[in-house]
Amino acid sequence: MKHVLRIRDRLRVETLDVEEGTSVSEALRALDREAVETPCGGKGLCGKCRILLARGELSAPDERESRLLSAAEIAAGSRLACRARLLGNAEIELAWRGEASIVTAGPSSAFALDPPARRVAVFPTAPKLEDRSDDEARLLSALAGALPPDRAPSRVALAALPGLALAARGGEVEALIAGDEVLGASSRRAGERSLGVGVDIGTTTVLCRLVDLGSGESLGARTELNAQRGYGADVLSRIAASEEGGGLEALRDRIRSQIARMIVDLTLDAGASAEEVASIALAGNTTMLHLLAGVPPGAIARAPFTPAFLAGRAEGAAALGLVSHPGCAAFLLPGVSAYVGADIVAGMAAIRLHESPGNSLYLDLGTNGEMAFGGRDGILCCATAAGPAFEGAGIEKGTGGFEGAIDSVWIEEGSIRYGTIGGRPANGICGSGLIDALAAFLDAGIVDETGRVADADEAGALPPALGALVAQGEDGPRAYLDRKREIYLSQADVRAAQLAKAAIAAGIDTLLLAAGRGLDEVDRLYLAGGFGSLLDVHGATRVGLLPPELADRVLVVGNAAGAGATAACLSRQALEACSRVVSLCKYVELSGRSDFNAAYIERMIFPERG
Ligand code: FES
Repeated sequence: MKHVLRIRDRLRVETLDVEEGTSVSEALRALDREAVETPCGGKGLCGKCRILLARGELSAPDERESRLLSAAEIAAGSRLACRARLLGNAEIELAWRGEASIVTAGPSSAFALDPPARRVAVFPTAPKLEDRSDDEARLLSALAGALPPDRAPSRVALAALPGLALAARGGEVEALIAGDEVLGASSRRAGERSLGVGVDIGTTTVLCRLVDLGSGESLGARTELNAQRGYGADVLSRIAASEEGGGLEALRDRIRSQIARMIVDLTLDAGASAEEVASIALAGNTTMLHLLAGVPPGAIARAPFTPAFLAGRAEGAAALGLVSHPGCAAFLLPGVSAYVGADIVAGMAAIRLHESPGNSLYLDLGTNGEMAFGGRDGILCCATAAGPAFEGAGIEKGTGGFEGAIDSVWIEEGSIRYGTIGGRPANGICGSGLIDALAAFLDAGIVDETGRVADADEAGALPPALGALVAQGEDGPRAYLDRKREIYLSQADVRAAQLAKAAIAAGIDTLLLAAGRGLDEVDRLYLAGGFGSLLDVHGATRVGLLPPELADRVLVVGNAAGAGATAACLSRQALEACSRVVSLCKYVELSGRSDFNAAYIERMIFPERG
């Protein structure tokens, strides 16, 4: 039996017909946006999927809801969307989460303008009775006459043949060439430009940048939260979701249609048409590229962690559902391993790490800390599981990088102050705020080096303005940033952040050890990705996430993966740079390494006050 679910938020009211027994979070997936956050993938563990039941019939709160919501909250109508099931018509309210703050900019890379996929217009000879060679042969021969020998394609892809069969009847034919293959063929349309799109598919966000393949000019960029987030915040939750019936297809279709829509929006904004897009280069972690391709990613989550594919490849973008016209190439960039994917490779290519003299350390921090160390003579790389704390998940008052998230904390005139994204009233703590808050609490003596939050006696010995920030919660002491708004770090939050920072710091230690190098031999420290870009270096060194010795060598490079993908669709040299990076990379497996385990335990301790 179906019931009506009415959904209200600050901007709209929507209605869905929902089968009885469906969870609210499953029902909300039918909306074309992420209505609630579900970082734990709907397992009832994170408490982030709260909704308010205004009226109607939902299942009674189960044991997990009763654990994550107080009796007062349940009495006021709060529910977890992943646990509450529809038993009759119902109306729910969603909290307003504001706009996401997403890092779009990346390093600008100077690669020669020479797109790896190009449209070339030629006049194949018209078919006649004396020369009955097929359309493919006549097109290849015309292209061989028009292009230098090393650029002439040798075959036509099956997907291009239907268009060729209609076009090659005596007029001008436009062929889309990638490598030595024709990927698309159609009658030439006057006035069309050739456009390209660089895409970075992050687990949290998706970036698309539109460029003119003729001039190299950027025509605009869009970033959105990844439409798969309803299936969990991290790659392991997405992999688990892909293994449920129909999960892989659902995740594949979500990301494909999101990118396709973003491309349409970008081209409309630029006064162009999506049909003018001739090339799309895609970076992303290994799991994201598997999901895009519709390839089961399950083996990535299980030892020995072998993905189905890592090599770069050129495909027809229409076959991947990214555009609807045949004349567009999609380049999937290469990765190194299950956990050092094409996003890290594209980022390193964008900053030309593969050509750099000396030694650079490259860090992309998120739920996985992916890192690389080296330069033109060789690169060691590894990935360390930091957990979702830096994405704001698993932290009681944690949130993503949305408006109102506390993103900076400092001590001023003897008390703790904070700033929020967009200057909005505080509604939670995001990853950079978490690091800053820990640094401030450590300096204030509210948290000690072992990560223990002060008890009542210890708080009493602190200056009154600081001591008043400590209070006893249900599960132990809390360190408050804002008592009025109930924003604090619990003892468990401090432990989660401690584990995350220890994983990253121990990863850096182990990578340097494996390379036989010391901190004094690190010439540059590149911080990539959204979290890295917002990170305050002082806070990061204070909590021991980054080595203080490298504080003066930090270069923030923003969305380097997006920059690398964009460069790859503009330049064959940049595309080849990705392959060069992969060939230089050697993966260091951290699990089971005794030196990593020892460093991890050592890095759990926060540095002492200087
Ligand atoms: S508790 Fe519902 S998604 Fe985590």
